[in-house]
Amino acid sequence: MKPEALPARPSSNRTHPLLLLFLFWTVHGPFSLFLLEEKEKMGGAKNQPSSWLNPPARKGGQSPPPMGKFEKEGNPIMALNLKGRSFLTLEDLTPGEIRYLLDLGRDLKAKRRAGICEPALKGKHIVLLFEKTSTRTRCSFEVAATQEGAHVTYLDAGSSQMGKKESLEDSAKVLGRFFDGIEYRGYAQQVVEDLAKWSGVPVWNGLTDWDHPTQILADMMTLEEHCAKPLNKMKVVFPGDVRNNMCYAWMMGAAKMGMHFVGLGPQELAQQMDQELVKRVFAEARQNGGLIEITDDMGSLKGADMIYGDIWASMGEEDLIPKRAELLSPFRVTEETMKATGNPDVLYMHCLPSFHDFETKLAKEWKDKGVDIREVTDEVFRGPHSVVFDEAENRMHSIKAVLVATIGK
Ligand code: CP
Ligand code: NVA
Repeated sequence: MKPEALPARPSSNRTHPLLLLFLFWTVHGPFSLFLLEEKEKMGGAKNQPSSWLNPPARKGGQSPPPMGKFEKEGNPIMALNLKGRSFLTLEDLTPGEIRYLLDLGRDLKAKRRAGICEPALKGKHIVLLFEKTSTRTRCSFEVAATQEGAHVTYLDAGSSQMGKKESLEDSAKVLGRFFDGIEYRGYAQQVVEDLAKWSGVPVWNGLTDWDHPTQILADMMTLEEHCAKPLNKMKVVFPGDVRNNMCYAWMMGAAKMGMHFVGLGPQELAQQMDQELVKRVFAEARQNGGLIEITDDMGSLKGADMIYGDIWASMGEEDLIPKRAELLSPFRVTEETMKATGNPDVLYMHCLPSFHDFETKLAKEWKDKGVDIREVTDEVFRGPHSVVFDEAENRMHSIKAVLVATIGK
């Protein structure tokens, strides 16, 4: 079956035709959105969505995701080849390919720390296209590429002809003649897909309204550094805007790697989620032994290995700030949130930038108008469970892995 195409994010051909998917929305009390088959595995009756919130260990949760043909014991991922490939969404990668990038990121980080200099991108030229602002992603691409010997050109929204005097297709074809790879950050996922289609060179997604796949690599790398469990035994809870790029990216990443992921947010935002994407995520989770839940029940914090933060109104949605603050205040991450996990070793992570105090222009301005836009308290953000700056550093190592894997020697 060819799944229906999303308006802004082309669907893949990977959805299994026989998957039975079930969307369950309750009007009163905690709502839940989950895969019927998973619920049945947990022993829940069809019309009683009570058992899924505190499920027993999921079936398959004790075993790793299925191995691909190059991933068997003793013949590991070295045979994987991502050369010439784009990195547009984790949906395009197999679990083995994601594993490969995580391992490569870890190895490149160790190489850098050991002072080993063997530039893998010597003579390469890459261009960074940013239609939205950035600190981490831009700097990660620039530093990673430069450390590996590549030359970087940066173009912001106002400094090229793309989309204004020149079509995306023509600009992509031109950039493909000059550069070995293109990074894009902007709005529609379709733009990054079209750049890949027309340029003929690898294109890397540096964030769209729909996805932020390089962030997930850094997040998983950081999780593996700080938590002794394998990814497919970890539970991640994302309290906040469940319909944003970070939640979507995490859902797909967790499904690929057989993890337990909970999007914890108000029903009003959950109802705005892209249901075609949700279906595909559920299909991936089923295939890889993962579990994906979307709920407003705080009970789902129990057993979390990591609580993930993001701002409540993403870039381009600033006019929604007061409404989001009203909807999402109950989901602000506090000491109580962390305690509710029942896990003394629970980690706090955040893609950054974060509103955790009133030291930013925006947080101050809204505070003066009586609106608290902090998605996390300062105590948690600066507290002992927080690994947000290790995570930020890992953006660079993991993006380096993507560059080396796709255009390296
Ligand atoms: N996390 C992240 O993408 O940060 P920037 O917006 O600073 O790139
Ligand atoms: N959801 C946020 C992520 C920033 C890295 C945004 O798009 O602004």
